Amino acid sequence: MANIKTLAEFIVERQKDFPFATGDLSRLLTSIRLAAKLVNREVNKAGLVDEILGETNVHNIQGERQQKLDVYANERFISAMRNQGEVCAIASEENDDPIIFDHPISRDGKYVVAMDPLDGSSNIDVNVSIGTIFSIYRRLDPNKVTLDDFLQPGTQQVAAGYVIYGSSTMLVYTTGHGVNGFTLDPSIGVFCLSHADMKIPNDGSIYSVNEGNYFDFPENVRRYIDDCKRSKLSARYIGSLVADFHRNLLKGGIYMYPSTAKAPKGKLRLLYEANPLAFIMEQAGGLASDGNQRILEVQPTELHQRCPLFIGSKAMVEAATKD
Ligand code: AHG
Ligand code: MN
Ligand code: MN
Repeated sequence: MANIKTLAEFIVERQKDFPFATGDLSRLLTSIRLAAKLVNREVNKAGLVDEILGETNVHNIQGERQQKLDVYANERFISAMRNQGEVCAIASEENDDPIIFDHPISRDGKYVVAMDPLDGSSNIDVNVSIGTIFSIYRRLDPNKVTLDDFLQPGTQQVAAGYVIYGSSTMLVYTTGHGVNGFTLDPSIGVFCLSHADMKIPNDGSIYSVNEGNYFDFPENVRRYIDDCKRSKLSARYIGSLVADFHRNLLKGGIYMYPSTAKAPKGKLRLLYEANPLAFIMEQAGGLASDGNQRILEVQPTELHQRCPLFIGSKAMVEAATKD
C-alpha cells in the first residue's frame, strides 16, 4: 500500500491550509466520512433488504414522497454530526426547518451544514448511482443560531462536497484550495486519494439535460441545445445530479436544469444542491450560473429555495447562458 494516502491522513495534512484552525473542520469532515460509509453499506444491499427499498408514506416539504433510503441517509448524516461539538445546526432537504442541536457540547459548534442526504432518489430502486451533497458555513453569531446562518451566499461556504454511491463509492470535496476525490476501498473500508487536484476541461463534448422538458425551456436554452445537437455532442442524463455532475467534472461537459413553464425557478435547490456543486465546480476551473448570475453570488431568501442551474466546463456554461 505504498504511496496510498487515506482521506484521514489528507484531512490532517490539509489542516495547515487554515492558519488559525482548531481542527473542528477536520473533525467535521471525519464525521461526514463515517456517515458516508454507513449509507454506502445500506445502498449496496438495497436490493436485498425490504426496509431499504421503496417509498414511505411521508412527503417532504417539496411535496415529494420520501424514499426509505432518503430517511435512512438523513438520520445517519444528522446523527454523525449531532453532539460532536463542531456543528450547531443542520438544514436538510428532508426537514422543513433547520435542526438545531441543543446539547451543551453542540451549542458552541462553529459550523452549520446544509445537505441533500440522498440525491437521485428516483434511481434507488433501479440500481443507478445516487449521492449525498453537503455544504458547510461558519455560523454568524456565537450566541444564537438563526435562519440567517443558512441564508448566506454560496461565496461564504467554508467547505462543500459530495459522495457518489456508484460503481465505486467516492467522496469529493473542497475547502477552497482545489478539489480532491477519494475512492472507498470496500475491502478495508477506507477512502483513498484517487483523484488529486481535479480540474474540469475548459470545453467538453457532453450535455446533460432532461430534454423531455425542451418545449418548456427559455428560447436561448433551446437554441443552445440545438447547437449541441448540430455539433453532435453526446447527450448523457442519468437523472441523479451528483452522478451527472461527477461524470462531467471528469470528462468535460455541461449539466443544465433550466427554468420551465411549470417550474419557473427550476427544480434544484440552491442551498444544498446548486451552491455546494458550484463551489466545487469553480474550484475545479468550471462555472456555475443560474442563467443570469453566478450561483455563488445569489442571495438566498428561503431554506428550500430553488434555482435554475447551468454548471460545467467554462466555455459551455458561457455559451448556454448567452442571451
Ligand atoms: P432528489 O432525489 O434529491 O430530490 O434530487 C433529484 C434531482 C436531481 O438529482 C436530478 O438531477 C433531478 O432531480 C432530475 O430531475 P428530472 O427527473 O426532472 O429530470
Ligand atoms: Mn437532490
Ligand atoms: Mn434528495
